[in-house]
Amino acid sequence: MNAESLQARLKTRHLGRALEMHESLPSTNAAARATARAGAPHGAVFAAAEQTAGRGRFSRAWASPRGGLWMSVLLRPGPDPALAQFIPMAAALSLRVCLHGFGVPARLAWPNDLVAHGKKLAGLLTESAIRGAELEYVILGMGINVNNGPDSLPEEFRGAAISCAQIAGAPLELEALAADLLNAFEPLCDEIARGRGSRIFEEWKTALELIGKRVSVRSGDAVYEGAVIDIAEGGALVLRLDNNETAAIPMDRGSLHTDKYFKEL
Ligand code: BTN
Repeated sequence: MNAESLQARLKTRHLGRALEMHESLPSTNAAARATARAGAPHGAVFAAAEQTAGRGRFSRAWASPRGGLWMSVLLRPGPDPALAQFIPMAAALSLRVCLHGFGVPARLAWPNDLVAHGKKLAGLLTESAIRGAELEYVILGMGINVNNGPDSLPEEFRGAAISCAQIAGAPLELEALAADLLNAFEPLCDEIARGRGSRIFEEWKTALELIGKRVSVRSGDAVYEGAVIDIAEGGALVLRLDNNETAAIPMDRGSLHTDKYFKEL
């Protein structure tokens, strides 16, 4: 990836104006966190051609070979900790729009994935820092399988992952995708900072197309099976279980199983 060619395509005021592009990093989220503590500005972006210790949800390893887009954005949306919940929703919506523009019809999967043909195209990892009662910053990490073919991934990930190039039938230009993504994401971040996160939540909730679907959700050691009756603000999945009780699984605690719903995506 070339920093100049990415920045030449930016239409943003803040996102990507400070940009660190590395050949190799342990994790772009870790780099963003270190720099955030040293006072890096809102919108600073950290990208790497490869990550040697990429991390996913629940501290799982995230395979990050060359060819993918591994990028983290440092956001300072304002002091209210409640603003942080809307960031991954806004990122998922922005990414979906961009990928469609590149001939990749991705769909959202709860909580934070983009999928195609039932396989994972991209995952998002949000980390928030709270100081006292105030939100100091949010780091939004995006891992997108762009031109890294399935063979580049460790065997345990191969069956469940798919790349944009496989779907589009040709490689995508990483700089163009990264710039489009930042261009689409900034207005939604601005909306969140202006207190309009609920609108983003509603759009995300609709885009998930989950209500009424039967799902199986893992949360810690528990597996919940039932029908989705709602998605609460904050992103929790509200299920009517088979024994007629309801359960709410917060966004940061659950994973959807590869059930019939997921295969439809
Ligand atoms: C998931 O588990 O689905 C989330 C994966 C997030 C991976 C991205 S790649 C860029 C950033 N740096 C990391 O170490 N993780 C995130």
